[in-house]
Amino acid sequence: MKILGIETSCDETAAAVVEDGVRILSNQIASQVEIHARYGGIVPEVASRQHILAIIPVLKQAMTEARTTWDDLDGIAVTIGPGLAGSLLVGVNMAKAIALAHGLPITGVNHLEGHIYANWLTNSTPLFPLVCLIVSGGHSDLVLMRGHGDYVVLGRTRDDAAGEAFDKAARILGLGYPGGPAIQQAARNGNATFIQLPRAWLKGSSDFSFSGVKTALLRLVEGGKVSSRADGAASFQEAVIEVLVTKTVAIATERRVKQILLAGGVASNELLREWLTRNSPIPVRVPEPILCTDNAAMIAACGYYHFQADKVDGLNLDVIPSLRLG
Ligand code: KG4
Ligand code: ZN
Repeated sequence: MKILGIETSCDETAAAVVEDGVRILSNQIASQVEIHARYGGIVPEVASRQHILAIIPVLKQAMTEARTTWDDLDGIAVTIGPGLAGSLLVGVNMAKAIALAHGLPITGVNHLEGHIYANWLTNSTPLFPLVCLIVSGGHSDLVLMRGHGDYVVLGRTRDDAAGEAFDKAARILGLGYPGGPAIQQAARNGNATFIQLPRAWLKGSSDFSFSGVKTALLRLVEGGKVSSRADGAASFQEAVIEVLVTKTVAIATERRVKQILLAGGVASNELLREWLTRNSPIPVRVPEPILCTDNAAMIAACGYYHFQADKVDGLNLDVIPSLRLG
């Protein structure tokens, strides 16, 4: 079964063709990062205009790379939320137009659900029950999954998402946008022990909080107490990752799950991948970095399981910018 995935929830215009939910035939991504970097963050109006310019070329490239015709497709999966309304609308309207023109079934996918399904695009299948840590620009969620489409949110951030915290810390340190990769790069030459930053453990809860560590970094920078950008980046990265890893392993152990999955843009962070893998008694799965950040292959993979479960939408499908999981 060949599914076309379309993803336009934020600042990447992406289209992909995936076979049977596991084999990537194409995975095209047009990034707007250089445009938004000028403004130090995403400008929603600029993002939706860029999606309109990029969507048709990206779709054509995805179909060509997959050597697929419209008649070869079995369905379309498109992100309906959460995300920026104007950006989501471009993908959803394009998906509906293709579905109507070619008589294809369509299914709307939750972007966070899509991130989780990047873990099915590896060479073995995840085992239920599992706990997935989704860490992206907008979310830090710990999700229990007992089967396909069965999500129980065990914890979430009470303030900044992990990726958002990385982006804000990078701005404080003058490292530019997007912050996650910039902090990772700078931290390679830094010493995390030179600067002490607090950890919010929120004992007894699987929720997260990252605004305190960000504010503590800001105060130290303002007070001239950060020895170098590299040391600041290394300390910040370690403070966030220590909390993510410790709390994820704790809840996964308590719930006696078979596997821990990592997902979302921050899951491409090499220290997080290494720490979690090294410190977890439970097997850990991590998608390749390109499948952690926003892409349409993960949406197509998730869409395959929607179609298997007869979750088909009508052409009245609409965007839900504040869509939640579970
Ligand atoms: O999942 P994603 O691509 O988009 C959203 O759904 O938000 O995640 C983007 C976030 C950004 O905040 C970015 O700074 C962060 O992921 N990120 C990273 C790394 N690469 C991307 N954070 C830490 N380390 C990285 N290597
Ligand atoms: Zn995302």
